[in-house]
Amino acid sequence: MSNSFYVTTPIYYVNAEPHIGHAYTTVIADFLARFNRLDGRDTYSLTGTDEHGEKIFQAAAQAGVGPQELVDRISRRFSDAWELLDIDYSDFIRTTQERHKKVVRQVLQKVYDKGDIYFGEYGGLYCVGCERFLTDKELIDGVCPDHRIEPEERKETNFFFRMDKYRSWLREHIEANPDFIRPVGYRNEVLSLLSEPIGDLSISRPRSRVPWGIPLPWDEEHVTYVWFDALINYISALDFDEGEKFARFWPAAQHLIGKDILKPHAVFWPTMLKAAEIPVYQHLNVGGYLMGPDGRKMSKTLGNQVDPFDLSARYGADAVRYYLLREVVYGQDSAVGEESLIDRFNADLANDLGNLLARVRALLGRHLDGVLAQPHALPQDQPVIDAGEGLSQRVRVLVGQLKFHAALEEVLQFVRMLNRYFNDEEPWRLAKEPEQRQRLGTVLYHIAEGLRITSVLLEPAMPAKARQLRAGLGLGDYTLAQTNTWGQIPAGTQMPAEAPILFPKLEVNKEETLKAKEQKKTAVTPSPAAEKDEGAVEEISIDDFARVKLRVAQVLEAEAVPKTDKLLKLLVQLGDEQRTVVSGIAPWYSPEDIVGRRVVLVANLKAAKLRGIVSQGMILAAEDDEGNLALVGLDKELPPGSEVR
Ligand code: ME8
Ligand code: MG
Repeated sequence: MSNSFYVTTPIYYVNAEPHIGHAYTTVIADFLARFNRLDGRDTYSLTGTDEHGEKIFQAAAQAGVGPQELVDRISRRFSDAWELLDIDYSDFIRTTQERHKKVVRQVLQKVYDKGDIYFGEYGGLYCVGCERFLTDKELIDGVCPDHRIEPEERKETNFFFRMDKYRSWLREHIEANPDFIRPVGYRNEVLSLLSEPIGDLSISRPRSRVPWGIPLPWDEEHVTYVWFDALINYISALDFDEGEKFARFWPAAQHLIGKDILKPHAVFWPTMLKAAEIPVYQHLNVGGYLMGPDGRKMSKTLGNQVDPFDLSARYGADAVRYYLLREVVYGQDSAVGEESLIDRFNADLANDLGNLLARVRALLGRHLDGVLAQPHALPQDQPVIDAGEGLSQRVRVLVGQLKFHAALEEVLQFVRMLNRYFNDEEPWRLAKEPEQRQRLGTVLYHIAEGLRITSVLLEPAMPAKARQLRAGLGLGDYTLAQTNTWGQIPAGTQMPAEAPILFPKLEVNKEETLKAKEQKKTAVTPSPAAEKDEGAVEEISIDDFARVKLRVAQVLEAEAVPKTDKLLKLLVQLGDEQRTVVSGIAPWYSPEDIVGRRVVLVANLKAAKLRGIVSQGMILAAEDDEGNLALVGLDKELPPGSEVR
C-alpha cells in the first residue's frame, strides 16, 4: 500500500443551510484526515458544494435570485461553517468551477466515445429531492421515504449511460472486496440491489427545462445530470487526469457519505469509473442518520433540530467534535442533543481529563517548582507504562474499523487508569514527606507522560484542546509514532505557571432540563462533600474563592423531609437573618443531633427548590471514601453570622 490517504465528504447541496448532518460527516472526515496525517501518511481531504441541478435552480427561483448568486452565497456559508468547526480541509471544490466542469466534459466524452452512452426515451417516477428516478420498490405508500413527496411521472428523451452493462462486474468487485462498502449492512444492501437488473442511467436533462448545468460536450441542448456531474468532483479536485495529485491520492481514496446517498455512490459512481477506465475508490464509508434528542428525525415542524454551530459557539468546536465522534456509533442512526453533549463533556472531559491535568499541575507547581523530574519507575508503575505504550496501536485498529466511539473510549479508559494510579499512589501524601520527593517526581512524571500520549490521540478529535493540554505541561507537538515509547518528555521540562482550566464544567442552563433532572435524581443538597473526587485541585484565584460567601450558622430547627431518607429541612440563624436550608445529611444526622449546632453555610448560593422547599444555601461537610460524613464546624464558639474566610 502506498503511504497516502485521501478522504472526501459528500459535496453538499446549496439549496439549504449547513446543518448537523453535514457537520457530522465533515467532522469525521476531518478526524480521519488529521489522524492519518499524525500517523505519518501523505494526506489529502476534500469537501465542497454541489451547485447544479433542478433542485438548486428551483431554490434560486424561489429566493428570487439568480442561481449563481444563490450558490455563491450558500457555498460560502458552508466554508464559514467548517471554519467554526475547525475543519482543516485540503481543498474545497465547487461544481460551478471551471476546473471541475472541464473534467466532467472529459469523462463524458470518454464514455460517449466508448459507446456506453446512447440517446433514448425514458419514463418513470422522479423525485426532485433525490434528483433521481425511484423504483416502485423504493417507494413507501407511494411517496419517497426520504423526502415524503410523491415522485412525478416523467418521460424524457435523454442520453443514457449503459450502467446495467457493468452490474455483474460491480457485484463481483464487491464480493471480492469485503470492505469496499462498509459497515457491512450497507454492503449487503447494495449486493441485494445488484441481484436484479439496475437499468441504465439517464445522464442528461433538456437544457430548455433545466438550464443550470454543464452542457454535454457533443450536444449543447442537453445538460449533464446532477449526479453524473457531482460524483466527478472526487477526481476533478485532484486535477484528473494529468495532475500529480491524482496519481498520488486517487489510489488511496475513501469516501464518506450518509446512507441517503448510498445508491449513487455504490452503484452509479463505480460503474461510471469503470466505463471511463478509471480505477475505483478503495472504500465507501456509510454513516447513519442523526436524529433529534427525542430520537425522531430532525425537522423544523417538530422543533427538535440541533444546531452544531450554535453549540460550537457556546461550548467550543472541540466539545461538539468530541461529542459527535464519541456519542454516535458510526453507521447507525443516533439521537443527539445539547443535554447529552453536556453530560458527555462533564463526565469525560471535565471530570476525567481536565481535572487530572489540574491536579498534576497543582502538585508540580506547589512541590517541585513546576519541573518534571527524571522518573525512577517502580514495579507498580509498569501497568500504566504498558497501557500507554500500546494505546496508539489499539486506537489505530479501531479507527481503521471506523469505530470512532470505541477509539475515543479506549483513550478515556486510559485516562481513567491514570486517575486510579494517581489515587493509588497518593502524590499529595508523598508531597508531605521530604524523603519521598523522588517518588513524587516519578508519579507526576508518569501522569504527565500519560497525558502527553492521551493528548496526541485526542488531537484528531480536539485539535485545539489537545494542544492546550500539552501546553499546560510545557510540551509541544508529537506524532503518533512518538506515543509508542514511554518517557519522551525530557526530564527538566518546566510547565508554565499559568494555564487556563482545560474543560470548565458545563452547567445545564435550561430551566426545563434542570427540573427534569431534579425529578429523576434523588434530590440532595449539592455539597462539596458529595463531590467524588477529593484530591481534585482545580486552580482558582483568590478572587474566585472570595466570591463564595461562607458564614457561621446556627441550626434552630430540623425536621425530616417527607418521602425521602436523605433530606433534612433546617432552619438556621445567621446574624439577624433566618433561612431555610435543605441538606442531604439525614443518613448521618438525626434532627435531634443537629439542632443547636453551629455549622458553616455557603451564604450566597443561588436558591434551589428541592422537594418543593426553597433551599437558601448549603452547609459544608466532609466525606471519606467509606462514606462517613462529618459536618464542618468551628473549634471555638463564634456568633452565628460570622464570616468564614
Ligand atoms: O446528497 N444525519 O447533498 P446533501 C447524518 N449533493 N448525516 C446527514 C444528515 C443526517 N440527518 N443529513 C444530511 C447530497 N447528512 C449531494 C451529494 S456527493 C457527490 C453529492 C449528510 O446536501 C450525509 O453525509 O443532501 C448525507 O449523505 C449528506 O449530508 C447529504 O448532503
Ligand atoms: Mg439530501
